[in-house]
Amino acid sequence: MDRFVVRGGAALNGTVRVSGAKNSALKLVAAALLAPGRTVVRNVPAIGDMGAMAEVLRHLGVRVDEQPETQTLDVPDTIGCEAPPELVRRLRASIIVLGPILARCGRARMPLPGGCNLGSRGIDMHLAGLAQLGAEVTYANDYVEAVAPEGRLRGADLELAYASVGATENLLMAAVTANGTTRIRNAAREPEIADLAAMLSAMGARISGVGTPELRVEGVTALNPTEHEVVGDRIEAGTFAVAAAVTGGKVTITGVDPAHVGLPLDKLRQIGASVDAGAGRITVAGGHALRAVDVVTLPFPGFPTDMQPQFLVLLSQAVGPSMLTENVFEARFGFAEELARMGADITIEGHHAIVRGPTPLRGTDVRATDLRAGAALVVAGLIAEGETAVHDARHIDRGYADLAGKLRGLGADVRREATASVGAA
Ligand code: EPZ
Repeated sequence: MDRFVVRGGAALNGTVRVSGAKNSALKLVAAALLAPGRTVVRNVPAIGDMGAMAEVLRHLGVRVDEQPETQTLDVPDTIGCEAPPELVRRLRASIIVLGPILARCGRARMPLPGGCNLGSRGIDMHLAGLAQLGAEVTYANDYVEAVAPEGRLRGADLELAYASVGATENLLMAAVTANGTTRIRNAAREPEIADLAAMLSAMGARISGVGTPELRVEGVTALNPTEHEVVGDRIEAGTFAVAAAVTGGKVTITGVDPAHVGLPLDKLRQIGASVDAGAGRITVAGGHALRAVDVVTLPFPGFPTDMQPQFLVLLSQAVGPSMLTENVFEARFGFAEELARMGADITIEGHHAIVRGPTPLRGTDVRATDLRAGAALVVAGLIAEGETAVHDARHIDRGYADLAGKLRGLGADVRREATASVGAA
C-alpha cells in the first residue's frame, strides 16, 4: 500500500483549484440511472471512489466512459436491478443507487453497504422512507430487497428523524418519478443536495424547497438525460484553507463557492487566520498567533464533520484549550490517537475532544483511518519536525485527487512512496 511522506517546515503559498465534490459526483452519476440515454457529468474528481461507482453502474448495464474530470454515461432502456455485492461492500456510498434502481425497475436488491470505518452507519432512514413511498422492503442474509407494487412508487409525506445526507438523496431520487406528491421534512441541506436537485430538475424532475429543511417533489412519469457540472469540493477547499492557516502561508483556493464553506471560514477568522472570500475564490493567510476556539459538528449549515480532523490539527497549534464536539459520526476520533502520537495534546471524553495547544508536532509513522483523517495527518506533517509517513494512502485517494501534487504546487515537500507489501496481502 502507498504512503504519503511529508517533510515539515514549508509555509504554503500560491493558488490551488479544488476538484469537483466527491460527495456530489457519486450521487449525480447514480441519478443518471433515472433516464435512458446519454448523460454527461463534468468536473468529476479523479478519485478512487468515482472509479468504484463506475464499476457499479457498468454492472447495472450502463456504458461508462471515464475521461479526466468527465463521466459519460449511456444508460439502457432496461437496467439491472441488483447491485454487485463485492463492489457495494467496497463503496459505502453505493447505497445511493438503491433509490434510482427502485424508481426505474420497480424493484431493487443489494447487499448492506461497507465503506470507511466511521462507526455504525445505518441506512434505516433510507429504508423506512422507501417503505413509506410504497415499497415492500425485506432483509435476508445481509441483503436488502425493495419492491414497488404495480412497479411504481407513490408520493408520501416523509419526515427524517435526522437530517441524513444519504437518506435525503436516496428518497429524493426515488420520489421524482413516484405517482403523486412527496414531501421530505427535516431534509439535509448540504450544497451537494442542491447540486443533485439541480441535475434532477434539468432532467425534468419537479422539485421545490431546495436549501430548506422541507423538499417537495411532484412526481413525473419519465426523466430525460442531461449534462451537468459537479459543484466544487467544499471539504477539499476547507482542507487547503486549514493547511494555509497552520503553515503560516497565504493560499488562494479557486473552483468552490465560498458560501459552501461558511462556518469553517468563520471559525478560521475566530482562530486568527485572515480570510478573504470573493466570487469562486477564497484567500486564507496564517502567520498570526492562533487562538483556541470551540467547534461543534452539525448538519449543514452547521460545521461539517468532514472538517473535524483538519481542525483538530489546527487547534493543536492554537494557544489554550479548545473543545471540539462531534455530533455526526461517533467513531471519527480514531484519528486523534494518531495525531497524539505526533505530539498533540488531545483528550477524548465521549464525543468531545479537548485539545490543548500549542504543542510542537514531531514527524513519525502514522496511519490514515479514513479519508479526512488521512488528509489531516498530511496537513499535520506539513508543520511537524522532520518526516511524517502517512500509511494507507488509499483512504486519502478515495476523496482527494492528486493531493500530493496540489500541495507541492503550493511549496510543500510531500511525495508518495509505494510501501513494499510485507508477506501475504
Ligand atoms: C455523507 O455521508 C458523506 N458521504 C460523508 O462524507 C459526510 O460526512 C456525511 O454525509 C455528513 O455530511 C457521502 O456523501 C458519500 P448521513 P452519509 O446519512 O450520507 C447516521 C467523507 O468524508 N444514519 O448524513 O452516510 C449515520 O450512521 C464522507 O467524504 C443512520 O443512522 O451521512 C451517521 O452516523 C464521510 N441511519 C449519521 O447518520 C440512516 O438511515 C450521518 O449520516 C442514515 C444515516
